[in-house]
Amino acid sequence: MSTVASMGNFSSKGTADKADKPQQALDINHAADDHETIGTPWVEDAKMSARNVNVFYGDKQAIMSVSLDIGRNEVVAMIGPSGCGKSTFLRTLNRMNDIIPGCRVEGNITLDNEDIYQSQQDTVLLRARVGMVFQKPNPFPKSIYENVAYGPKIHGLAHSNAEMDEIVEKSLRRAGLFNEVKDQLDKPGTGLSGGQQQRLCIARAIAVSPEVILMDEPCSALDPIATARIEELIDELKEKYTIAIVTHSMQQAARVSQRTAYFHLGKLIEVGDTKEIFTNPQHHLTENYITGRFG
Ligand SMILES: Nc1ncnc2c1ncn2[C@@H]1O[C@H](COP(=O)(O)OP(=O)(O)OP(=O)(O)O)[C@@H](O)[C@H]1O
Ligand SMILES: [Mg+2]
Repeated sequence: MSTVASMGNFSSKGTADKADKPQQALDINHAADDHETIGTPWVEDAKMSARNVNVFYGDKQAIMSVSLDIGRNEVVAMIGPSGCGKSTFLRTLNRMNDIIPGCRVEGNITLDNEDIYQSQQDTVLLRARVGMVFQKPNPFPKSIYENVAYGPKIHGLAHSNAEMDEIVEKSLRRAGLFNEVKDQLDKPGTGLSGGQQQRLCIARAIAVSPEVILMDEPCSALDPIATARIEELIDELKEKYTIAIVTHSMQQAARVSQRTAYFHLGKLIEVGDTKEIFTNPQHHLTENYITGRFG
């Protein structure tokens, strides 16, 4: 992982400035450096910063020179047509791509200004700080209690059974699930409804006190009521956490996020204030997508 860029590589308008890009980024054969991101990819108080990120699956480039900040305590929505690289980019933020054979990440990604791709980075610890919730709820084949207690146990966060009970209860409460499951904590997590399972997965992510939560289409398998519950929850969670959410629902992006990033064929086309993106998109690709003409 090379440190190829910093905030200084962009013009003050917020457009990634090709002329200022470091040679290293321009030298990448597949890199589509012929595009500029419209809008401001960075924020003043960045929790995470991605600079000139390229991702390859073997020879195929899936992400092209993407730069984007995720601000502290903000919700950033990532939208775009299927296959544009949303999940791939999201996974670079906690190095989940590391476990995909043939996947290679270039560029610079920081968490609190520290390079998360430095060789001495403990990825287990990183993924506790930058948790992930997936499209399909994936509780472990264990009890509800153990699903939530698993992470804290691994990371030695509880020094007694009482402390563990407290962490489990607090996490389930914060995920808005405790009242529904408090009398069946020893029952399998897989026995819950889809929406409950997703909230259980959120409780599991929260239990290790992450700083950032990545959500990849967390509601796509849920009905409208369960979706509304998760969206409410996201709104509450942003008080304490930084959240990046991939969604296919533009209504959801508009409801839950403060900033929206529009991806197209591996490129970050446009990023900005969610209201602006939805009411006044600057790029024709963004406009086509949000007006339903594409994707
Ligand atoms: N494990 C993989 N191996 C090879 N190519 C992959 C892999 N995962 C994704 N890709 C490719 O990378 C590109 C981006 O895929 P990605 O899954 O990130 O898109 P996405 O925007 O999340 O799509 P969707 O909305 O359908 O989930 C696609 O061309 C996809 O085929
Ligand atoms: Mg995806």
